[in-house]
Amino acid sequence: MASYGAVADYLLQDPWLVIWLAMATLAFALLRSRRRGAPPPLPPGPRPLPIIGNLLMMGQLTHRGLAAMSARYGGLVHLRMGRVHVVVASSPEHAREVLQAHDGELSNRPASIAIAYLTYGRADMAFSHYGHFWRQSTNLVRSIAAAVNAGDGDDGGSEAVVEIGELIFGLSKDVIFRAAFGTRGGGGGHGGELEILLQEFSRLFGAFNIGDFIPWLAWLDLNGLNGRLRAARAGLDDVIDRIIDEHVRDATPAGDEDADMVDDMLVFLDEGGRDESGGGGGDELQGTLRLTRDNIKGIIMDFVFGGTETVASAIEWAMAELLHSPTNLHRLQAELADVVGLNRHVTEDDLDKLPFLKSVAMETLRLHPPIPLLLHEASTDCVVGGYSIPKGSRVLVNVWSVGRDPAAWNGAGAGEFFPARFMPGGEAEGVDLRGGCFELLPFGSGRRACPAVVLGLYEMELVVARLVHAFDWAVPAGEVLDMGDGFGLTAPRAVRLRAVPTPRLTCEM
Ligand code: HEM
Repeated sequence: MASYGAVADYLLQDPWLVIWLAMATLAFALLRSRRRGAPPPLPPGPRPLPIIGNLLMMGQLTHRGLAAMSARYGGLVHLRMGRVHVVVASSPEHAREVLQAHDGELSNRPASIAIAYLTYGRADMAFSHYGHFWRQSTNLVRSIAAAVNAGDGDDGGSEAVVEIGELIFGLSKDVIFRAAFGTRGGGGGHGGELEILLQEFSRLFGAFNIGDFIPWLAWLDLNGLNGRLRAARAGLDDVIDRIIDEHVRDATPAGDEDADMVDDMLVFLDEGGRDESGGGGGDELQGTLRLTRDNIKGIIMDFVFGGTETVASAIEWAMAELLHSPTNLHRLQAELADVVGLNRHVTEDDLDKLPFLKSVAMETLRLHPPIPLLLHEASTDCVVGGYSIPKGSRVLVNVWSVGRDPAAWNGAGAGEFFPARFMPGGEAEGVDLRGGCFELLPFGSGRRACPAVVLGLYEMELVVARLVHAFDWAVPAGEVLDMGDGFGLTAPRAVRLRAVPTPRLTCEM
């Protein structure tokens, strides 16, 4: 007791010692509570309001709006949309964290009420079968060349303006429909109906629905979407059921030259009545894979949405950038004249000998990634870059701002179209766009990356090469080239491209 009293007396004589001891105890307690699992903070971001959070900022959730937010708050930004956490990665290092280090936890896809309903409760699956599309894309190139040629007027050197953007989008859809449904269904009879339905799907996918963010309001359908959702899905059901029935009646064995994607999938259709013997091909999946009609409809939608606007937008942007930058247009034309000559058309075999063409494709996809925001969802709580990402958060990767990051892309030149940066000796020589380099992610990376990179690039390179090789291009007299972009599921040009072609080849078009 005596010794305790002595210690107390001693301490009271030195109040500073007491203060230091108290502070050390507090710091120790804080550290222990952290180590025991108090989660790190959410990423920085604009202050949310009660209940609605940052919903009033919904209009800023575009690639440009989010890039501006990232300039203010950093490479990882947090927003609260009603009950939904939204986290946006906008720098290469945060993109790497999301798509590589945490790929396992962050590769779910969020489904809004509209997406879940329109994909038959997510009955679709990653696209995996594009043999026919591959063949048909050659036809696309031929059609574009023919259409451009036809639009050139009949007196050779006329100054006819070609609606090149419209042509590219129209033919890209045509190719997909023909690859999917052949000439019996979508390619012929149902193409127009399908196109109108898919436009409505696209609008519904992007439509704001308060029920997605404040779920207890969903039943009120305040945005009046339920009727439109039911009508759109019923319409698609009707058309695709008719196409499937036509294919069942008039079956072409899978693997046959004339078989289309529906023929191939019908081999796996399991509705208890289909004769499985129609399929050829000897695929090892036969006997194990079973598809419902809903699966088939979902896959068709993956195919149509994944493969039309993306490729068309990439080609249209490449043409626009080349028109905007005659030096690069002429350099590409010189490469084509050297490697291919002017007395025959570019073929698939030429592509690997055209490094500047590949650089033009990469530079276009860097500045104008057709899908500017990757949309993922956290399947579990995790920590990214020292910040908490709660389970169920929507995790966006702003591929558009990653591709323009001044630290990764030569400072002030980051926003310029400069394909030579990818050429031997250029600052970005060796950078790859298939998901291995996190400063260039037009196809995403990791397990949700685009399954059709090879096809997308092939189509883009071949069409651009054919158009630039066969024609000189100029902006129509008196017009100014508008380089603005729009925002939806993809980021196409705000204004469709128009241009004046002048033939260059000495062979027949
Ligand atoms: C230049 C052309 C293309 C570009 C830039 C592109 C880009 C992308 C991107 C960025 C994603 C999402 C990656 C992620 O979330 O991490 C994606 C997914 C997808 N793409 Fe592409 N794409 C192109 C062409 C195509 C084509 C031609 C098809 C099919 C015919 C296709 C089918 C798909 C499908 C089915 C998915 C979903 C994959 C999944 O969720 O697992 N894409 N694409």
